[in-house]
Amino acid sequence: MTATVIDGKAFSARVREKAGKQVEILKRQHGLTPGLAVVLVGEDPASQVYVRNKGKATQEAGMKSEEIRLEDTATEVEVLDVVNRLNADPTIHGILVQLPLPKQVDEMAVLDAIDPMKDVDGFHVINTGRQAVGLPAMVPCTPLGCILMLKDTLGELSGLNAVVVGRSNIVGKPMASLLLAESCTVTIAHSRTKDLPDVCRRADILVAAVGRPEMIRGDWIKPGATVIDVGINRIPKEDGKTRLVGDVCYEEAIEVAGAITPVPGGVGPMTIACLLANTVTAACRQAGVEEPEV
Ligand code: GUN
Repeated sequence: MTATVIDGKAFSARVREKAGKQVEILKRQHGLTPGLAVVLVGEDPASQVYVRNKGKATQEAGMKSEEIRLEDTATEVEVLDVVNRLNADPTIHGILVQLPLPKQVDEMAVLDAIDPMKDVDGFHVINTGRQAVGLPAMVPCTPLGCILMLKDTLGELSGLNAVVVGRSNIVGKPMASLLLAESCTVTIAHSRTKDLPDVCRRADILVAAVGRPEMIRGDWIKPGATVIDVGINRIPKEDGKTRLVGDVCYEEAIEVAGAITPVPGGVGPMTIACLLANTVTAACRQAGVEEPEV
């Protein structure tokens, strides 16, 4: 069997188009232009690419985009000053501080300072808690993108066995929480899990978010399972260049799985699309207007 390839690029284009149409309606009917601010501290090359892409996508959707760059020597107080200014700015509805932050800046303190209503990353503990108990919350973009792709592929998720490999605050934990909210039976596996291949083989839905290139092999996958690969790992090729691979060995997995996200072109594009969707949601909630149906 060869798996269906889940086209994150095409799906994300639909999500972005929807956000763009909603922005048009908000401008026309309410004079409301959603605004997103992205804060980058330091020169991390991968973060620079992400931040540039986020800014571009925000503008393409017709929103206000503000990019704030600080030196990698910036102090925690300087970062907190920027966050506080953005919290108070009525033209900014979403704030994203790109992670990781330099070591002199306490990540938790910065995330905690973001107004939870403007927390389009969904990393504030208020949003984590609200999501966990089923209250309206801002939901982290990458796990949200994974859930949208899973529902599009499988329809109803209720009762399925889901295994999330990885327990990060950015992906693993919120992913597990969202799958639980969809009534999946959820297992979180991690580096200390015993018999990891056996645990993975029980999954109808397998989400890989460990950051280890091609760790999950084809024979760890239940035939017909849906595999969501969150990993983006750059590895050297024989010709001295590099290539991107996921946390799943794609060539093996595609022969066993029912459906699989490729790397690149799977989860990655969905993250930015969901950031735009979250910014629209945040702007509507702050302005007290209904989110436009499109
Ligand atoms: N660094 C890697 N992924 C993310 C993300 O989703 N949000 C932020 N803020 N930083 C990241």
